[in-house]
Amino acid sequence: MGAPLTAGRHFFSCRLAHMLLEGKKGLVVSVTNKNSIGWAVAEAAHNQGAHVIVGAQNERMLERVGELVADYPRMSAVQVDFGIPSDMEALAERVKNDFGTADFVVHSAAFAQREDLQGRFIDTSREGFGIALDVSAYSLVSLCKTLEPVLADDASVMAMSYLGSTRTVGNYNVMGVAKAALEACARYLAVDLGPRGIRVNVLSPGPINTVAARGVKGLTDMITYVHDKAPLKREFGQQEVAGSAVYLMSDLSKGVTGQIVFVDNGYNVVGM
Ligand SMILES: NC(=O)c1ccc[n+]([C@@H]2O[C@H](COP(=O)([O-])OP(=O)(O)OC[C@H]3O[C@@H](n4cnc5c(N)ncnc54)[C@H](O)[C@@H]3O)[C@@H](O)[C@H]2O)c1
Repeated sequence: MGAPLTAGRHFFSCRLAHMLLEGKKGLVVSVTNKNSIGWAVAEAAHNQGAHVIVGAQNERMLERVGELVADYPRMSAVQVDFGIPSDMEALAERVKNDFGTADFVVHSAAFAQREDLQGRFIDTSREGFGIALDVSAYSLVSLCKTLEPVLADDASVMAMSYLGSTRTVGNYNVMGVAKAALEACARYLAVDLGPRGIRVNVLSPGPINTVAARGVKGLTDMITYVHDKAPLKREFGQQEVAGSAVYLMSDLSKGVTGQIVFVDNGYNVVGM
């Protein structure tokens, strides 16, 4: 109080140098390559001072993720497929051994059969429907359930959704239904875990060129369309998503849970 203005400026720059996630430890699952949204999130968390375990779905991906994390002193890689119970148990064990408890968990994974990401939604098979919902939505529930004992009080959990959850988007089809389920799961999980101060939120990025996104027919047209119509005319991509993820992992968002945070240059508010 009452500090001179010049000292105030110095104080402010010192505050800016403070890293938002200093001392925090957490997980980002999963990463395929350096274009993965999860990788941008993991890198941003690390650069803000966090320790990060990065998930790879299988042995082949683990090799690549292992190479990526090798350059970062506070990152390590782990193999985890959400559909394999022993992988999930090993993940909880790994968190316990490496961190004791986790301060953040970032679910950044989805899957649907290629044939279900084109043409008419009505043609979705029962099997394809089940696979998409299981891998892309139920996995958040099982991840929270498995990690609950090793989540720190006040931890932050987040998942990645897309506008196709509430609006129809050509070819997105069953993945839109899976994202609707994912968002609903996040709200129910927010209620279950809220008493411990644990927050569960969803980020909803606009279309970004990644391996998963290329599974949706017509991705490049989607990207051009959104960039044309969105209120903000600047480029956006993995880095913008990572910035919002850091906010959600940090104590700055302590009062935010059960929310969908759009990171799409504002495209979702445009009617006509
Ligand atoms: N790229 C976009 O345009 C976009 C837009 C909105 C939301 N999202 C969402 O962002 C998240 C990350 O996708 P991305 O675009 O970075 O693509 P990506 O291909 O880089 O990442 C998807 C990841 O999901 C993992 N995965 C799939 N099945 C899994 C399983 N059974 N167990 C463990 N991991 C599994 C894959 O291994 C892969 O690493 C997804 O939820 C996606 O739907 C992407």
